[in-house]
Amino acid sequence: MNISRKKIMWWVSLLMLLVVFAPTISADDDDKRHQRRERKHKEHNHRGDKNLKPVNSAAYTDSCGACHFVYQPELLPAASWKKILEGTDDHFGETVDLDEGARLEISEYLASNAADKSSAKLSGKIMRCLGGMTPLRITDIPCIRKEHHEITPQMVQRKSVGSLSNCIACHRTAESGVYDDDSVSIPE
Ligand code: HEC
Ligand code: HEC
Repeated sequence: MNISRKKIMWWVSLLMLLVVFAPTISADDDDKRHQRRERKHKEHNHRGDKNLKPVNSAAYTDSCGACHFVYQPELLPAASWKKILEGTDDHFGETVDLDEGARLEISEYLASNAADKSSAKLSGKIMRCLGGMTPLRITDIPCIRKEHHEITPQMVQRKSVGSLSNCIACHRTAESGVYDDDSVSIPE
């Protein structure tokens, strides 16, 4: 008799323990799940934004979009943009006229949105592969050149392209900051 009562008491205490601790155990689980989710989210952010921000400066578009595609500032480091703006009297053989107001506005826009200030995945890649170099051309960035190694001079010379600098001829979504290989097509 005594033994079975002891047994019953043992089971009862075990049950009570379970009732008391079960919620904390599952809360613990929830906590872990939550932490895991947060970590995943952070890792995702670390990999950076998928696309570049579309250009949103009227001064930049007006002054710099007359001869070619307006390159997103996130495609070059601030130091490159600074050099480009300092060289507007001999800009790849052309003269770019800028009044002081426009120059200031463009220079602020480019400096604060440059590749080294960006969280975009592509900008991170550009900064890593430049390793401190500050080229005047996006098309001189080693990893950008590498992405285009299959493009032949004949393809570039087509009237519809003209130059590798003409991103939008092949990257149909370049204006929206999307350069992924799903939206590329080289025109005939
Ligand atoms: C008068 C015409 C003209 C204007 C205006 C102009 N550019 Fe250019 N830009 C050129 C030419 C020409 C090239 C060389 C293109 C080529 O090689 O096909 C060039 C090339 C570039 C490149 C290098 C593209 C590459 O190959 O990666 C950048 C960056 C650039 N320009 C920025 C600017 C900025 C910033 C402004 C405004 C301050 C500007 N451009 C205004 C004519 C112009
Ligand atoms: C003649 C057509 C053409 C021009 C002009 C061109 N590209 Fe590309 N680009 C391509 C092709 C094709 C690929 C895809 C290569 C592949 O499939 O691996 C590519 C790949 C890329 C990639 C890598 C995309 C990815 O998801 O891996 C980037 C970034 C890029 N180009 C940026 C530019 C920029 C910036 C310019 C202008 C300065 C430019 N391209 C001009 C054809 C072009």
